[in-house]
Amino acid sequence: MRVIKVKDYERLSKLAAKIVATLIREKPDAVLGLATGNTPLGLYRELIRMHKEEGLDFSRVVTFNLDEYIGLPKNHPQSYHHFMWENFFHHVNINPSNVHIPDGNAPNIRQHCDWYEARIRKFGGIDLQILGIGRDGHIGFNEPGSSLGSRTRIKTLLEVTRRDNARFFDGKIENVPKYAITMGIGTILDAKAILLLASGESKADAIKKAVEGPITAMVPASVLQLHRDTTVIVDEAAAKYLELPWETEEDYERVESLFG
Ligand code: GLP
Repeated sequence: MRVIKVKDYERLSKLAAKIVATLIREKPDAVLGLATGNTPLGLYRELIRMHKEEGLDFSRVVTFNLDEYIGLPKNHPQSYHHFMWENFFHHVNINPSNVHIPDGNAPNIRQHCDWYEARIRKFGGIDLQILGIGRDGHIGFNEPGSSLGSRTRIKTLLEVTRRDNARFFDGKIENVPKYAITMGIGTILDAKAILLLASGESKADAIKKAVEGPITAMVPASVLQLHRDTTVIVDEAAAKYLELPWETEEDYERVESLFG
């Protein structure tokens, strides 16, 4: 696992965007796994800027989102469909038929989950999976206790997650859906490379456990320690409890310039 500690959220977003843009320039039909939440917003903003000012081309890029609430209409302001189109897809030249987000209104959700897995395989698998992390260490909507081999499926959300997300639903936990579709931990681990982003003190405990703690289903992100190509970018606040020195941004740039 590679952990890069950067100064703040802006540096985190810029470095993440650089990694994504390098992949797209090397492989214009790259398959990206995408995440929602506040954390990747700066990354999406920077990719939009690179598209507009530097011609970063998304026309052949394929995307698969991690998760979606079950039962929210697609155009609901809190649906992940709405989030992705508003915050990213509408602002770049992505081909809508290359965009995949789980359908929380599919008539048969279980069948839809199997279709989603098959669709990822059809495109040759995910080249780079972007992840945020929940305060309880969840990735996607894989809550603590999720099977480490799980695939795309229905998950019941924990109260802590629903409480965290209530701020987006008029502050009312009862408005937050109880169920979601999420790629499984096994699905995430199949990605060729993984980029986990964490910013702010509220994530420091989850990052400490995920990066330096034991691998356990109680902290789903800790399983990333088993993956051969995972990079974690954390800002100073999220890195607060880490004991190892890990890498600074300067260390990272030096290694990249030496070894490419
Ligand atoms: C939700 C999403 C996760 C995300 C997490 C953290 O639970 N399903 O994919 O990582 O929130 O969100 P934020 O980045 O807003 O802290």
